[in-house]
Amino acid sequence: MSFDDPAPRLTVNGQEAAISGDPTRRLSDVLRMDLGLTGTKSGCDAGDCGACTVLLDGAPVCACLVPTAQAIGRDVTTIEGLTDAAAERLKAAFLRHGAAQCGICTPGMLMAARALLAESPAPTRTEVEDALSGVLCRCTGYAKILDAVCDVGRSVQVRAPMAQHTPGGAVGQRIERLDGRRKVDGTDVFGADLLPEGALEVHAIRSPYHAAAFRFGDLEDWQRSQPGVAALFTAADIPGRNCFGVIPPFADQPALAEGRVRFRGEAVALVAVEPGAEIDLGDFPVIWSPEADALDTATAQADGARQIHQGRADNLLTRGFVRQGNATSGLAQAAHTAETAIETAYVEHAYIEPEAGAAWMDGDTIVIHVCTQAPVMDRDETAAVLGLPPDRVRILPAATGGGFGSKLDVSLHPLIGLVTLKTRRPSRMIYSRRESMASTTKRHPADMRARAGCDAQGRMLAMDFTGDFNTGAYASWGPTVANRVPVHASGPYRIPHYRAEGRAVHTNGPVSGAFRGFGVPQAAIVQEALFDDLASAAGIDRLEFRLINAFRDGYRTATGQTLIGGVGIGDCFEALRPHWTRAVAEAADMPHRGVGIAGCWYGCGNTSLPNPSTIRVGIAPTGRVVLHQGAADIGQGSNTVITQICAEAAGLPISAFDLIGGDTAVTPDCGKTSASRQTYVTGKAAELAGRALRAAILRHANAGDDAQIEPEEGALIVRDTRDHRIDLGTLPLDTHGYAFAAEETHDPPTTALDEDGQGIPYAVYGWGAQMVELSVDPVLGTVTLHKITAAHDLGCVINPTLAEGQIEGGIAQGIGMALMEEYIPGRTENLHDYLIPTIGDVPTIETVLIEKPDPEGPFGAKGLGEHALIPTAPAILNAICDATGARITRLPALPHRVLEAIAQRGTS
Ligand code: FES
Repeated sequence: MSFDDPAPRLTVNGQEAAISGDPTRRLSDVLRMDLGLTGTKSGCDAGDCGACTVLLDGAPVCACLVPTAQAIGRDVTTIEGLTDAAAERLKAAFLRHGAAQCGICTPGMLMAARALLAESPAPTRTEVEDALSGVLCRCTGYAKILDAVCDVGRSVQVRAPMAQHTPGGAVGQRIERLDGRRKVDGTDVFGADLLPEGALEVHAIRSPYHAAAFRFGDLEDWQRSQPGVAALFTAADIPGRNCFGVIPPFADQPALAEGRVRFRGEAVALVAVEPGAEIDLGDFPVIWSPEADALDTATAQADGARQIHQGRADNLLTRGFVRQGNATSGLAQAAHTAETAIETAYVEHAYIEPEAGAAWMDGDTIVIHVCTQAPVMDRDETAAVLGLPPDRVRILPAATGGGFGSKLDVSLHPLIGLVTLKTRRPSRMIYSRRESMASTTKRHPADMRARAGCDAQGRMLAMDFTGDFNTGAYASWGPTVANRVPVHASGPYRIPHYRAEGRAVHTNGPVSGAFRGFGVPQAAIVQEALFDDLASAAGIDRLEFRLINAFRDGYRTATGQTLIGGVGIGDCFEALRPHWTRAVAEAADMPHRGVGIAGCWYGCGNTSLPNPSTIRVGIAPTGRVVLHQGAADIGQGSNTVITQICAEAAGLPISAFDLIGGDTAVTPDCGKTSASRQTYVTGKAAELAGRALRAAILRHANAGDDAQIEPEEGALIVRDTRDHRIDLGTLPLDTHGYAFAAEETHDPPTTALDEDGQGIPYAVYGWGAQMVELSVDPVLGTVTLHKITAAHDLGCVINPTLAEGQIEGGIAQGIGMALMEEYIPGRTENLHDYLIPTIGDVPTIETVLIEKPDPEGPFGAKGLGEHALIPTAPAILNAICDATGARITRLPALPHRVLEAIAQRGTS
């Protein structure tokens, strides 16, 4: 078969399609690029992630592994072809159960599920697991996907809503995601899905070395040898400041390196290629001179180590510190003490969508459509690199296929911005999986040591914690990790004598940045291990030991902050108590069975720094309520949750709302989607804006506070002691075109920390506790998870379905961190060497949602996104220790490390 044969054709979604070009091209590329069927996603081009799953003659295949020639004369079905009644039932189940979060895996999941349901209309859970095992999801923890597929054709098994909190009725409801339909239809437009006409394809030349000097050969000569190359760019072409960084005082990362690279994967040049042109980048003229590198903090701080950045002696980026009382004397007074040292690995975010975007000129403004967690930060950083004022860069956030912290940092934004600025042509860039993994940020590897002590009754007296966090080649969020860890290393417990130090240390490793928890998940492993050891020494049940020490309303934290209310950690442990009692009793009768428990707390928002969000909401002359919602929804559900809060506060129905997303030209800044801040900070702004909008309408109608407002076409009906009709067409409109409008800002009330770390770092905290039941194979060293029970205090559960999804997804990532994920530069830059949990790796998860209202949060709500991951790994490791008596001191707990720990226990 060759495409020289006349009219080679395949049938796609029932229609014949003529195909041209290379017959060995991936079917996924032909579907997406030639036929415009971008509902088929592309996550790895290696058959690892399954995002590109389509049906070939009814059987699921990874389209990235199918040469198009193999599909000639056969039937291909993509997500766009799933339109019959059976498909609609499947999609409806996904929406009902909240099975789509970011949505990048959703088309692949639906295709795999469709093939199963065609064969087995009422599959068992095991059959569903088997059928979906080839499709990875990084967001959901798979539980709701399983629920949805099992639920198709059966009665609805959705849990009841939480209590309603005010007459608006939107808060507490299991409302389907407002952006969910696009996700199940495959019509959400991700970064790689937009292809501007004639766009140049941008490729980066990246360092194969961890550290090297470099120079270029004859670039002009090379370009002449490659007819498809439209332009080349190096650092010399950057018109602005060749330096970016999420924390301006620490900004240090060049968009394109100048003469020296500090990590493997760093970009040194850009090649802009004409659409469809084939070029060979293998002989790009760059001459490397490798240098001595340091990949871990010990090497980077050793005598004689090369200084990675001028002005940062001993490769120390920065340190954070908290001290209360006197840890040394507190430990001396303790009846029981415990001590440990634990190392953790680089962890890759492994979102299923590699970074991608497109840029074009709109007059003098560069428009960049890109996956992101922080559109306004992207705009400002990109503008600085391009030497433009911020208002000449417009970020249009694409649907974002997972982020988990890494898409807070700019990646390709200044690169495609540079190409488009210089050529005045559209451009686009799609990172390969390898490029994504090599060049973007990771979770900080940590080297932590701590000692803690309690009295004979199990009351904590003292703790001394030190952690070196490998922040890699550039600063990124290293300062945030260094500062956040000492505040949180106590866990959600009162410890009167406390000293904690976090240090961010440069190496030539990948840049470490934000990843769900900013270092707190690593520190919690140490603290919760010590608590188990102290409980054992004191002869106290491990859950009781935690309850003895748990924060309560009115307690003071190690930073001297008085927790004035809404402290729910005790409630979380109490909720676990019946599960704990059962599980501990069961484990006592079973060999190699263990039960572990851990708690968490997490401050929502920036640490002692401003991080305001602004929400604008208006009533259009049509009667629609327009919400400018700038919090990037990367799957966590802010589009839905923020709307629920605003609707509740305004007393308006959700169905009347239209959303305008985080387009930087038309929506106020809602800050970044990080630090578990959006439900609290943006939610608070939405609550204030909703209330202000309601007040304006009631004022206009001269109606009382209890009046009901009902939007209809072109009017508002205000029902009070009498009905009042407001004809919107008769009212003057504001500059945004609204008859009524409100814009409100919230910035968490915090204070700076002094040199001892004393102050108010966060206005709101969230709380949680998890317990794990598992077995360890003492011969193979493998760990089998049986069940995880999670109790989280959210203050007010805005949307229970979305909250459960966050918890299940966080737990899945915690499982990966504990048991399997270890990123090694140059060795695990793909999704078959770097393993993340599959559907078969996540056990049954039982979630308990607790509502202890926070005095500050909107309707009492607290953040959740990062909390859900923090206790998982500590609880797993404590359960392994419970099962074997062996303490894992290097993560992940791969089988050989488990066996080593067991052997060490035997000889110790
Ligand atoms: Fe599955 Fe995001 S919803 S990867």
